Amino acid sequence: MCGIIAYSGHRPSVPVIVEGLKRLEYRGYDSAGLAFALSGQIHLYRASGKLEVLEEKLASETIIHATSGIGHTRWATHGLPNEQNAHPHLDPTRKLALVHNGIIENFQKLREKLIKQGHEFQSETDTEVLVHLIARGLQKTSSFPEAISWALSQVEGSYAFALICKDHPGKIWAARQSSPLLLGVGTGENFVASDIPAFLQYTKEVVFLEDGELVEMDASSWQVYSIKTLKPVTKKVQHIAWDVQAAQKGGFKHFMLKEIFEQPRVIRDCLAGRLDRKDERVLLAELDDLPVPGRLHIVACGTSYHAGLWAKYLFEKWAHIPVEVEIASEFRYRHLILNPDELVLAISQSGETADTLAGIRLARGKGIKVVGLCNVVGSTVARESDRVIYTQAGPEISVASTKAMCSQLVLLYLLTLYWGQRQRVLPHDVLSRSIHGFSSLPDILETELPRLREKAASLSQEYARARSFFFLGRGINYPLAMEGALKLKEISYIHAEGYAAGEMKHGPIALIEPAFPTFALALNDELLPKVKSNLKEVEARGGKIIALTHPRTDLKVTHPWEIPLLWGPLNSFMVLPALQLFAYEMAVYLGKDVDQPRNLAKSVTVE
Ligand code: AGP
Repeated sequence: MCGIIAYSGHRPSVPVIVEGLKRLEYRGYDSAGLAFALSGQIHLYRASGKLEVLEEKLASETIIHATSGIGHTRWATHGLPNEQNAHPHLDPTRKLALVHNGIIENFQKLREKLIKQGHEFQSETDTEVLVHLIARGLQKTSSFPEAISWALSQVEGSYAFALICKDHPGKIWAARQSSPLLLGVGTGENFVASDIPAFLQYTKEVVFLEDGELVEMDASSWQVYSIKTLKPVTKKVQHIAWDVQAAQKGGFKHFMLKEIFEQPRVIRDCLAGRLDRKDERVLLAELDDLPVPGRLHIVACGTSYHAGLWAKYLFEKWAHIPVEVEIASEFRYRHLILNPDELVLAISQSGETADTLAGIRLARGKGIKVVGLCNVVGSTVARESDRVIYTQAGPEISVASTKAMCSQLVLLYLLTLYWGQRQRVLPHDVLSRSIHGFSSLPDILETELPRLREKAASLSQEYARARSFFFLGRGINYPLAMEGALKLKEISYIHAEGYAAGEMKHGPIALIEPAFPTFALALNDELLPKVKSNLKEVEARGGKIIALTHPRTDLKVTHPWEIPLLWGPLNSFMVLPALQLFAYEMAVYLGKDVDQPRNLAKSVTVE
């Protein structure tokens, strides 16, 4: 939830750190700071607010010669988002500086104990106890790994931190437990960061740290140790195919718009290597040695949860697998009764969502197999699941998830076909029409996206003054209606509710009036007649209606929005970007901070 970067190399470190923090701002941005060791002391710069406030502070400094240092961009969990609580935090003697992402769950107890030992604290954060503990550890040993290991043996909770010392300029120590942290291995320079985009422009060679691992590094070397045993750990350097452009805006005004327009490429990439068009087979080798589940529990949050709800309709219809879709923060506290033939499918773009991770750990603790479906290679969900299938959507920077959901729907669709095939219950025409449809879908979408955006922009001028919106759908369009509502509220701050269209008459319809418009998904499927009668009920009460529909559905509503007709569930890949672009254009029209909406973070790594 916070962004960390540490650098040691041949470049001036302050610009490298600031640039890296810019790429991590989506992880949290209510305060920022950096520190470096130079001429025998720690130099510390911190500011509350966005990163540019810190940059202004740095601009007034003369040239800074440091070639190593640590940086942090924060999303507050303990302590107000102000300068005093901004990272880095120092020990009492100003010998050490530390930046941290995570939550030290027993920090109060540790703080009280340290205060009794004469320590004084400068902040309200949980982080500060970490640097004080390590300072105490260094009173017992001159070995940093030993001192860090001793300190962490007292800590409960999650952490990913980086540490520097004024007596060892160029040296960086970092460790992780339940929060993401990775190494960037360069030539004559090394990085530690929360996420790949922080250093992608300098190196694509990455080492993913696991929980319980500590790294000691400088400009020319790095070594990973087990925190507990301090034994060296051999690690693999992985090459990341993402290019810098993929993590930048590529000419679009916002990351969100770029990522919406990336969806045709995302569909291609997600399908890559998974469709045998000649033999008409779906290939998911990662799952070949797992039995087809007797029942599936999909566990996720937010947009990923909506993707799971959507997939439920397909799994039941084409793979004959009963499915329960669970909000992870509820699932993790349930008294679960699971049979051995059941399977948990954890969906997470970031692979770091705390509630989803807790669901995985709960299921695995009961001996239930878990399949992770995520976007970030080497993420914690990926490493803690029994099997992982990657959506291959590339970095999703905008807080609002768009292309990630598209890739999740593709992969879930493939998973339905794959398990349906294995069970020999998948109708052949479904398989061939799906494979054929997926082949042409990216090109159709590429052509249609500019038109969808134009329509969304014109509607936004008409509806931007609404204070509330209903989003209605039936069948697989019901989860999409919920997603449309989530997108609108999270970036335009307009209240919106996604509802099953048939449920309106059970109360919510009392809200309908001219100032409370409805966005309906009235597509040309077997449920269209039912949706039409629901919309008549809305119109009879003066409610204005935008309706996504297909040609020749003869829909009489305030604003019909025709989109190309595709086959079956493939229509969802045209509906989804329309909903995303409607929310996007409404937020832009209202002048909102589209990529970094208030109160939100890209990855919710605490519960
Ligand atoms: C979606 O636009 C939101 N950013 C949020 O609901 C997100 O989908 C949710 O936090 C789950 O994140 P994950 O997929 O990374 O686990």
